[in-house]
Amino acid sequence: MTSLPPTVLVIIGITGDLSIRKLLPAIEQIASLGAAPEQLHVIGLTRRNVSPNDVLQKVSTQTTFLQQALEMFQMDFSSSDDFLLLKQRLTQLKNELGSSTQVLFYLSIPPQISHSIITLLGDHGIAQLPNTKLLLEKPFGVDLESAEELVEHIKNHFTEDQVYRIDHYLAKEMTQNLVVFRQGNSLIKQTWNKDFIESIEVLASESLGIEGRAEFYEQTGALRDLIQSHLLELAALVLADIPSSDLSDIPAQRLAALQQLKTPQDIDAAVVRAQYEGYRDEVSNPVSLVETFVSVRLFSSDPRWEGVPITLTTGKSLATKTTEIRIKYKQKHADEANTLILHIQPDEGVEFDIWAKRPGYERELQKLPLSFQYQTHFDELPEAYEKVFLDAMKSDHTLFTRSDEVLETWRILDPIQKHWEMSADIPIYPKKSLPENI
Ligand code: BG6
Repeated sequence: MTSLPPTVLVIIGITGDLSIRKLLPAIEQIASLGAAPEQLHVIGLTRRNVSPNDVLQKVSTQTTFLQQALEMFQMDFSSSDDFLLLKQRLTQLKNELGSSTQVLFYLSIPPQISHSIITLLGDHGIAQLPNTKLLLEKPFGVDLESAEELVEHIKNHFTEDQVYRIDHYLAKEMTQNLVVFRQGNSLIKQTWNKDFIESIEVLASESLGIEGRAEFYEQTGALRDLIQSHLLELAALVLADIPSSDLSDIPAQRLAALQQLKTPQDIDAAVVRAQYEGYRDEVSNPVSLVETFVSVRLFSSDPRWEGVPITLTTGKSLATKTTEIRIKYKQKHADEANTLILHIQPDEGVEFDIWAKRPGYERELQKLPLSFQYQTHFDELPEAYEKVFLDAMKSDHTLFTRSDEVLETWRILDPIQKHWEMSADIPIYPKKSLPENI
C-alpha cells in the first residue's frame, strides 16, 4: 500500500467511452497492484438513473475493487441545489476519511459542459474545499482565442496548481523513456543537436477511422485532435533541454521548446492535409472539408536545432496503427547514415539502424537494426491512464500540460487553421494508405 492521502475521485462522464475503456480499468489496475491510496472512493456523477452495476458491466476487465468503491451520484448539472447536495456528500466523506482527504474531479465531457461545471464548482465553494484538484481532458479550446478564454475562466475558480491538464501521450511508458534515453546514454546525449541530426519526424498513424464520433470530429479534425496536443508535446520533449537532475523542470523546458517553434510562413508548402474516402458519408456532410490526415513541417529558432525540419504527421484510416519518433542522423558519405526510431506504440522499444558488412568476400554493406523491445524484457506495460491517476494523486505535475504550454501550441497552429478557412477543397485519400503516399 502507498502513503497517498485518502482520495475521493469524482468522475464526470463516467458512462462515456473513455471512462469505460480506459479510466475505470486503470483505477481497477492501480488498486489491484496496491499502488492506489489505501482509502480510495470513486463517485460517478450522472444525469441519468444509473447504478454502479450498470456501468461496471460494460467494463471488459475485472472490477473487484470498483464493485465496492464506486458510488453513483445522480444530479442535474445545471442545478444549484444539486451542487449543494454534492458538496454535502463530499464534506461528509471528508469527515469520515480524515482532514487530509483530497478530492479529484475528473472531467471527461464535452467542453461546453465542462465550462459550466467549472463555474458551478467554483460558485458553490467546492473548488475551494481544501485539497481539491481538477483533471481535464482535452480539447483545451478550439483555437488560440477560445483557449485563452478557457484558461481565464478556469483561473477564476481554480489555481494553476489545482489543475491537471491531461495529455495521455506524455504518460505513455515510451514517452517517459524518451527523457531517460536522452539523459542516460552519452552517445545520444552528445549527438542530440543540429550538428548530427538531419531531421525529426513524429508520426501517429491510426488504422481506425472516426468510429462514430461524427459530431466531435466535424468540429475537430486531425490538426486539433492530435497535432495540437499529443504530437506537439512529443516534439517538445525531443527538442527540450532536459535538465539533468530536477525532472520537475520538464514542463518549463517543454514550454521553452514550444516557444521556439515557428509557424510556417508558406503554409501550403509546409502543411499537407487530406480526408479519407467515405468520411463525408460517415459524417453525413457531403461538403465537409475536415482533415483526417495532416502533416506539418516546422522549424525551431533554437540555435541547437537551426535548420532541422521537424515533421508531425497523423491520420486516421491509414494502413497501420503506430506512433513513432524517427531521428535521422546526417549523412556525410553515401554509405553512412543512421536512423533512430523510438517506437512509442505498439511494440514499444528502440531501434537504431546501423550499417554492417554483409558476410562474404566482398565489401558489401547493409543496414541492420540494433534494437530492443520492451516485451522481450518486461511483462505488460502500464497503461497511460494509470500513471495519470497516480501522478495527480501524488500532486506531480510533470506529465501534465501547463496552461502556457497549451496556449503556445495554439499559437503555432492558429495561422494554419485561419489559412484553411479560406480554402474550398481538400484532397481525398483511399483508406489504408501509407502516410508517405498522401
Ligand atoms: C485521442 C484522440 O486523444 O487519442 C483520438 O482524440 C485518438 O482521436 C486517440 O484516436 C489515440 O490515442 P491512443 O492512446 O490510442 O494512441
